[in-house]
Amino acid sequence: MLDFPGKQAKYRQKQGLSRVFLFTPAKHGAIIPLMSSITIPARADAHPKLRTLNILRDLPAVADLIEICFSSTMDSEGKRYVQDMRRAGNDNSFIKWANRAAETTSLPLSGYVWEENGRIVGNASLVPFRHNKQRLYLIANVAVHPDFRRHGIARALTERALQHAREKKVSDIWLHVRDDNAGAMDLYSKLGFAERARRTSWQAVTDIHTPAMNTDIAITNRHPRDWPTQQLWLSRLYPDLLAWHRNWNFRSLRPGFWNWLYLFFVDINIRQWTAVRRDHLEAALAWIPYGRGESLFVATGERSDPVAVTALLLQARRDLAHSHPNIALEFPSGDFDGAILAAGFKALRTLIWMQATL
Ligand SMILES: CC(C)(COP(=O)(O)OP(=O)(O)OC[C@H]1O[C@@H](n2cnc3c(N)ncnc32)[C@H](O)[C@@H]1OP(=O)(O)O)[C@@H](O)C(=O)NCCC(=O)NCCS
Repeated sequence: MLDFPGKQAKYRQKQGLSRVFLFTPAKHGAIIPLMSSITIPARADAHPKLRTLNILRDLPAVADLIEICFSSTMDSEGKRYVQDMRRAGNDNSFIKWANRAAETTSLPLSGYVWEENGRIVGNASLVPFRHNKQRLYLIANVAVHPDFRRHGIARALTERALQHAREKKVSDIWLHVRDDNAGAMDLYSKLGFAERARRTSWQAVTDIHTPAMNTDIAITNRHPRDWPTQQLWLSRLYPDLLAWHRNWNFRSLRPGFWNWLYLFFVDINIRQWTAVRRDHLEAALAWIPYGRGESLFVATGERSDPVAVTALLLQARRDLAHSHPNIALEFPSGDFDGAILAAGFKALRTLIWMQATL
């Protein structure tokens, strides 16, 4: 699925592992430019209770900790993730593979834990990614047991994770934090992370009887002439800066015979609709059925009518009913929230994407 490019996706499928659930992680879709780089204090192995994650034996305890720390916000995907982690911790072939793959695969296989009397009470995972030939890390699963909070443990673990990145000569570090998690945001801001984007994940049930909107906007199949505008809008809404987190790109939406042939052979049934008012393109919607993730991609311009977005999403809820009970969308928070809600979608979470450059 989206978080597991290439080989890792296959391995994950084989092992029955679900995607990385990022327990870190947000109003406007704008990408916030990088203001400055930060200096991380050189505090390697800052504390005797802080040590490297040992995947041979720590995964079940880390899974327990994550379950306790994220119980109030954990959805079914999060629960599955924790189960996977426990299962992986008891699977010798996985552990053997994971030991070798920790620095190359986009799974939370390396990181740091904090121990009190032999018990893991703090964790910070490091998930490596590669984008445009550059390596980057996502810091995820930052969690401290409720009995041990406000003693600087999360700060020490996150600082150690940043130090790890520096040792590996990786200077681009990201994390996701829910927009209702002020404490964690404070922690990360103090460590030099800055907000780059806010994005909301939405979900809706499909229904063949979803009513159409009474509007002068017509919904049609995407016409090839709309592609340049759609592409431009998509590149603004799903910017390259954030593209390391996905293993697909928008080339598969191009019109033309060769792309059609390619999609035919790889058996991907992409659907595309446009919302048009008097020959004027208002918005476009694409459905890329990759895995279980956010598979709807809305393209809007700065002056697009929100009604067009609602009409497109209603169409998708209706047209996809025969094959998918639920559909999902991830989109910059803000301007079109009302339009997405009006189409019967429910906001699952809003994540702030924060970045630090070392
Ligand atoms: C967020 C969490 C990891 C913080 O762990 P912690 O060990 O208590 O954090 P620290 O003691 O290192 O705090 C460092 C700084 O973070 C900020 N901070 C941490 N918790 C805070 C809270 N509850 N309210 C306000 N600020 C908070 C403060 O600025 C704090 O510095 P200060 O103590 O000097 O004021 C912990 O509360 C937790 O596990 N929460 C549940 C899981 C979670 O939300 N994880 C983060 C996912 S992005």
